[in-house]
Amino acid sequence: MKTEGIEGTERFASPGKGRGLRALKHFKVGDLVFACPAYAYVLTVNERSSHCEFCFTRREGLSKCGRCKQAFYCNVDCQRGDWPMHKLECSAMCSYGDSWSPSETVRLAARIITKQKTLTERTASERVLALREFESHLDKLDNEKREMNQTDVLALHHFYSKHLDFPSDEALTELFAQVNCNGFTIEDEELSHLGSAVFPDVALMNHSCSPNVIVTYKGTVAEVRAVQEISPGDEIFNSYIDLLYPTEDRNERLRDSYFFTCDCKECSTRSKDKAKMKIRKLSTPPEQDAIQSMVGYAKNIIEEFRRAKHYKNILVSPPSELLEICELSLEKMGTVFDETNVYMLHMMYQAMGVCLYMQDWEQAMSYGEKITRPYSFHYPPYSLNVASMYLKLGRLYLGLEKKSLGIKALKKAIAIMEVAHGKDHHYLDEIRKEMEEQQ
Ligand SMILES: C[S@@+](CC[C@H](N)C(=O)[O-])C[C@H]1O[C@@H](n2cnc3c(N)ncnc32)[C@H](O)[C@@H]1O
Ligand SMILES: [Zn+2]
Ligand SMILES: [Zn+2]
Ligand SMILES: [Zn+2]
Repeated sequence: MKTEGIEGTERFASPGKGRGLRALKHFKVGDLVFACPAYAYVLTVNERSSHCEFCFTRREGLSKCGRCKQAFYCNVDCQRGDWPMHKLECSAMCSYGDSWSPSETVRLAARIITKQKTLTERTASERVLALREFESHLDKLDNEKREMNQTDVLALHHFYSKHLDFPSDEALTELFAQVNCNGFTIEDEELSHLGSAVFPDVALMNHSCSPNVIVTYKGTVAEVRAVQEISPGDEIFNSYIDLLYPTEDRNERLRDSYFFTCDCKECSTRSKDKAKMKIRKLSTPPEQDAIQSMVGYAKNIIEEFRRAKHYKNILVSPPSELLEICELSLEKMGTVFDETNVYMLHMMYQAMGVCLYMQDWEQAMSYGEKITRPYSFHYPPYSLNVASMYLKLGRLYLGLEKKSLGIKALKKAIAIMEVAHGKDHHYLDEIRKEMEEQQ
């Protein structure tokens, strides 16, 4: 098999981290390190009709698939291009009706299996790491994870039996484990979920909580840009997780999803933990026990909220109820935690999301205002979470005719996105246009 590699980088054995990617040349902040087309991808069900299933273009007036009336396309070319993947679901969606409900991972796996049948040579997505080489950590799965994996195997058989020749159940179990540890979610500029995909070369990069690259998307292509200076010999690190939380939380998440404990500089110095866990200034400061129990409360409510909000992508609890939970928990946590404490910010972020959903723009804005500043000191200098917050807030301001505040916030978003997304990304053209319309 011929491999060309990725110019300016090389695959290497990273001590204690398995395989990794390292730089062979200098990359400046904002440089594109490499781009990687998706090996396989799937548009999330909720974004159908606003995005093309094939190229992920977002626009109004897309054309419907005449058979299932569920998939939408830019034009006939996109529809034709997508057919080898869409045919896995088109007729099944018609015959199952409302009971068609495979998870996004199952949908992605069906597409990977189909691609593997047709693409036997190494693809343009696999210059340094092939999908078949993906780490699975199969030996480390506990019973709960094994059961979830089996549920996926069964669902795949159930919903895709007509069009797939299935590999053995062992091979499927391994594939699901590989996808769980190497798969990506695709988000838009406001970090709304658009879909799931595999980008093998991007998956070669190991994790750091102080990453020197950021991954963004242009349609279904992943782009990797430097957000710190990278020198020849440096390992190239991406972040796998939301970096808002303190070291212990981040590592719980990394162990649970990726089976390792991080040894990056942030994790060893814990330099941001104190600010992230800031306690209110009170005449009698709270005891350590009270703080710990409030952390426990915060984590429970976060988990409960996550479950209440999404059950098969449908909002189960009425939004007004969710907002009330947020407000009550903010009130309770606020007796111990400072307003800039990350658990407070997490809850405010959820509350803002519900307000946006309910189209309560004023209240969404007031949450946004409280979140943005602390976000920018908890996160690294170039962060998609910070950029998307400025973007949402800026758009809210403009909608509420607060022009100068709006422009100011959007400029902050642009400053980050020019580095993370590249100066010529269509998201930046769109934001600049929104600003010009205000002049
Ligand atoms: C997406 S893969 C990255 C490539 C992987 N090293 C390989 O050889 O296939 C994710 C896995 O890499 C390892 N890994 C990533 N970042 C790491 C880190 N900072 N420390 C230790 N292991 C890490 C873990 O085994 C994790 O499950
Ligand atoms: Zn299209
Ligand atoms: Zn269809
Ligand atoms: Zn770390």
